[in-house]
Formats: sequence, structure tokens, C-alpha cells
Amino acid sequence: MKTIVIFLLVLVSLCFADRKVTTSIEHECRKEEDNSTVCGSYAKITAVSDTDVLHYIVTALGFPTVFVAYTKPDAIVSVDLSRLLSQNVTEKAGSVVIKPAESVLYTYSLLFTKLIDYNDTKDSADMSSYDATSTAWNIYDLSDFTWNNMSNVSDPTGNMVVLQASSNEPSDLWEYNGTLSIKLKAFSSSGREDQLPHLEYNANIAQFDLNIDHLYTNLSMSRFAVEVILISGGQDTQKIDGTRSIDDEYAPGVFFINNWLTKSEGDSGFLQWKPVCYQSLSRSRSKATGMKHYHLQSLTEMDDMLTNTLVYAYYGKGWASITTAQASNFSFGLGQDGGYNKTQVLTWSGSVGYGVPPQDSVSTIVLIIISAGLGIPVVIIIFGGIFVCIKKRTAKPDKPLLNVQSNGYQPISDH
Ligand SMILES: *[C@@H]1O[C@H](CO)[C@@H](O)[C@H](O)[C@H]1NC(C)=O
Ligand SMILES: *[C@@H]1O[C@H](CO)[C@@H](O)[C@H](O)[C@H]1NC(C)=O
Ligand SMILES: *[C@@H]1O[C@H](CO)[C@@H](O)[C@H](O)[C@H]1NC(C)=O
Ligand SMILES: *[C@@H]1O[C@H](CO)[C@@H](O)[C@H](O)[C@H]1NC(C)=O
Ligand SMILES: *[C@@H]1O[C@H](CO)[C@@H](O)[C@H](O)[C@H]1NC(C)=O
Ligand SMILES: *[C@@H]1O[C@H](CO)[C@@H](O)[C@H](O)[C@H]1NC(C)=O
Repeated sequence: MKTIVIFLLVLVSLCFADRKVTTSIEHECRKEEDNSTVCGSYAKITAVSDTDVLHYIVTALGFPTVFVAYTKPDAIVSVDLSRLLSQNVTEKAGSVVIKPAESVLYTYSLLFTKLIDYNDTKDSADMSSYDATSTAWNIYDLSDFTWNNMSNVSDPTGNMVVLQASSNEPSDLWEYNGTLSIKLKAFSSSGREDQLPHLEYNANIAQFDLNIDHLYTNLSMSRFAVEVILISGGQDTQKIDGTRSIDDEYAPGVFFINNWLTKSEGDSGFLQWKPVCYQSLSRSRSKATGMKHYHLQSLTEMDDMLTNTLVYAYYGKGWASITTAQASNFSFGLGQDGGYNKTQVLTWSGSVGYGVPPQDSVSTIVLIIISAGLGIPVVIIIFGGIFVCIKKRTAKPDKPLLNVQSNGYQPISDH
């Protein structure tokens, strides 16, 4: 059993050979014909191994987006930021290009599209129990937010990039001088995130933190949610899988791990998360609360909404016929946890990557404890058995009384 586990661990570490990760950020302002200026940034994270490359393009243009391309080593990803910033869709299409085209093995994108604030009058933390009129809603389109110059808030040397909205525009949402941020960090090798819920990572993964920090709400029973879209670059069947974990060693009290897969079989793009979020930026067990995801929705009627995005910039006008887009909401909180107004802070993490999402495996320490616990009695039984056996074999044989009785003569003994 232990040898199998060790063998698997070696195999897994071979499969996820380390990558060399580099990050670059560009920011530009473009003057339109009507004299208005549009500014925007994008970050490119490249994770290279001998056999393949993972490219992440992160931008808030259109919507906060993480575009992931899994390619052969010879691929070159170029972004024409000036064209990407253009409001002219003809100019925008093809502003993100991967060459040569044959080097592209898989692409998909993760988009954060809406920030939703609702009055949870039932304190059930279940958004699906309200319709448009049964409670009060504030629904914000994330493409309307003003996002900061990524160079000013990111740490490219640590392969950490940040999309941050903290508008000074006179909008209620910013009344407390709060921020909404999405932080993404790529890794060059395997391990576990330092902070709760200690999600596992490897060189095929980037982890994100979504932070809602003092955004204003007028709702006394406020709860927040985000709408997320996953667009796979193929005619794939997406699904959300939930796995129950036997052990909550890394995230106390959390026995679930969820994977939203862009393909139903084989290697796939994925969004992985544990259904836990925190009511404080400094995470601790006592600040943890639950969260919920909802059914996947197809995006057929939202075509127009995506023309301003990186998805359009890469796949072009016909994107809807060559990709599969699905959306889901993620709502934060658990009934009786005090809701958003308790701290006015929420933070949630997840991973995006390509391949097979990490499985919550039992750690080496737990394995040692289990094998020690199971092993000591087994060792005692085995050695005990051997000891008894040896003792029996070396002990003087009993006199063969049967023989004595059968013929009446004592057999001649060596002793
Ligand atoms: C843009 O600015 C230039 C120079 O300031 C001016 O001549 C032109 O009329 C402006 N165009 C529009 C559409 O406002
Ligand atoms: C958009 O850009 C294309 C190509 O540069 C140009 O032909 C077209 O006139 C532009 N459309 C608008 C509405 O400006
Ligand atoms: C939100 O719900 C609370 C509790 O039911 C209610 O008192 C409050 O008026 C609601 N707020 C809005 C804006 O509807
Ligand atoms: C974005 O931030 C970087 C780093 O602070 C700065 O060098 C650059 O000029 C900024 N770009 C714009 C267009 O403001
Ligand atoms: C927000 O910032 C402005 C300008 O710095 C300040 O005047 C105001 O008091 C701040 N509001 C809050 C709620 O902290
Ligand atoms: C998410 O919730 C909002 C508010 O109820 C709704 O308008 C939107 O359609 C939902 N999105 C998905 C993908 O279910």
C-alpha cells in the first residue's frame, strides 16, 4: 500500500515537472476619434517546460479575464494592446494572436462578469430563493468599473498580478473608499498555498483571490455574489464536479472540493475551489463562512456582451460557434453568519489551470500516522507469530507417546 502511494507520488511529481515562470505587464492609453481616451492594462504570464507552455493573459478590459492557452514550446503569443483597446470591433478582432496556429493545444477563458448584492431577508444565503421582485438587488456590471494600471498594484517578479477597481467616481458602491480586487499568482512547482484554505497548486496552476473590501451597500441584510463565465475553445461539454474529501487537514471543517471542468473527459481547463470564504482579509478559521454555486447556464443570448472582451480579440467574430460558454453564480456566506455587513469584507480563492485538477490527497504526515497506527499492531502480530513459531520449532519435541502405546516399546532416542 505504502509503496503504491510512494510510486504514485513520484509519478505525479514527474507529470508536473517544474516550469520557468515569467510575467510582463503593459499599460497604454489610446485616444479615440471622438477625443475620448481609453486606458487599459494586460499581464502576460508564461510558464515554460521542455515539452509545453502555459500562457495566461490577464486583463480587466471588457471584463476581468484570465485567458489560458496551453501550447507547444514554439508558440508565440502576441497582444496588440492599442488594437485591443479599440472600440471598433473590426480592429479589436485578431489583436491577440498565437503563432504558429498549429502550436495551440487548448485555450479557455475565465471571466468575472457581475457583482451582485442582494437583501437576504430570509437569512438563508441562498440567492436562488429570490426572484427579481421578491427582494432588493444591486447588480453591477464589472465592465463598467474603472480598473487601475496593473503595473501599480502587481508584483511581476513574484508572478503575481492584480486587477483592482477602486473608483473615485461618484457612485454609491465606492462611498466607503473600498476596493474590489482579483489577484492571480502562477507557480513554478508544486505545493500548498500558505493562507487558508491551503489549496494545492502545481506548475500547471495559477491561483486567484477575489477580495471585496469595504464596498458600500444600502441593504441591511446584504450578501454578495459574483457571476463567472468559463469559455472553452472547443465544442466541449462543461460540468461542475464536487468531490467529498475524507480529510479536512488543510481547511478545517471543509470536506468538499469542487471542479468546474471545461471538458467532460481527459485533460481539461478547470476552476477549482473549496466552498469556503472569509469575512476578513487576514484569514483564520474563526472568520470562515460558507458559499454556494448554482447551475451552469448557457450563454447563447449574451453574445453581444462579449464583443468588448479578450475572447472576441482572440477568437474573432465567429467566437460563439467555435467555443462553449457557460456561466454560474457564486454567492458568499452562510445563514446566521452575520452577512456582509458584519465586517464588510469577503475573500475567496480558487485555482485555474490545465490538466487534471489536484485531488485532495492525504498528506505524508497523515500517512505516517495512519501507517504507524495500523503498522505497529501488524508488526506485533507478525513478529509475535514468528517468535511463537521459532520457539515451537526449537523447543524439544514431545515424546511420541502414540508410538509407545501402539507397539509397547520405547523408541530409541538420541537423547
Ligand atoms: C478633437 O480635438 C481636436 C484638437 O483639440 C479638435 O480639433 C477636434 O475637433 C476634436 N474632435 C472631436 C470629435 O471633438
Ligand atoms: C473599424 O475599423 C476598420 C478597419 O480599420 C475600418 O475599415 C472601419 O471603418 C472602422 N469602423 C468604424 C465604425 O470606425
Ligand atoms: C432589507 O431587508 C431588511 C430585513 O427584511 C429590511 O428591513 C430592509 O428594509 C430591506 N432593505 C431594502 C433596501 O429593501
Ligand atoms: C502604469 O504604471 C507604471 C508603473 O507605475 C508607469 O510606469 C506607467 O507610466 C503607467 N502607465 C500609464 C499609462 O499611466
Ligand atoms: C474617502 O476618501 C475621501 C478622500 O480621501 C475622504 O474625504 C472620505 O472621508 C473617505 N470616506 C470614508 C468613508 O472613509
Ligand atoms: C446570477 O444572478 C443574477 C441575479 O439573480 C442573474 O441576473 C444572473 O442571470 C445569474 N447568472 C447566472 C449565470 O445564473
